[in-house]
Amino acid sequence: MITYENYKIIHLLSIMVLLTGLSISFYGTNVKHIKILTGIATLLTLVGGMGLMARLGIGHTGGWPLWIQVKMGIWFIIGIGGALIARRFPKFGKPAYFVSILLFALASIMANYKFE
Ligand code: HEM
Repeated sequence: MITYENYKIIHLLSIMVLLTGLSISFYGTNVKHIKILTGIATLLTLVGGMGLMARLGIGHTGGWPLWIQVKMGIWFIIGIGGALIARRFPKFGKPAYFVSILLFALASIMANYKFE
């Protein structure tokens, strides 16, 4: 069984790989293995988050507290929106970098204060 601590390590490590991978793409370096790694990290961020929810006793079938809903939205914007910008709209790469920092801060605030 994966422990709460190990899920948090998976969650935080994959967030770090996701944000650094996107930043490299946002600043115009088009490297295939970075994009693959970023994609894997996007998925593992979700897996780690879901695992943490399970260890905290939060069900996966809806009725999520506000803080989880906000974090899901942030994951979608950073993970899916970021990949889209890096691939299709590179001219928005630099502003997207700063937006991703703000979204990371918001996700951390949500995880620590757990607004209902
Ligand atoms: C890219 C999007 C995300 C970012 C940047 C992010 C960031 C973080 C950070 C920094 C923490 C650690 C807080 C701390 O211990 O101080 C955390 C914890 C957590 N995150 Fe995320 N997260 C993201 C997406 C998600 C998603 C999609 C889920 C749910 C599926 C999720 C669920 C959780 C849970 C349950 C915790 C543990 C809170 C606790 O230990 O009390 N996160 N997140």
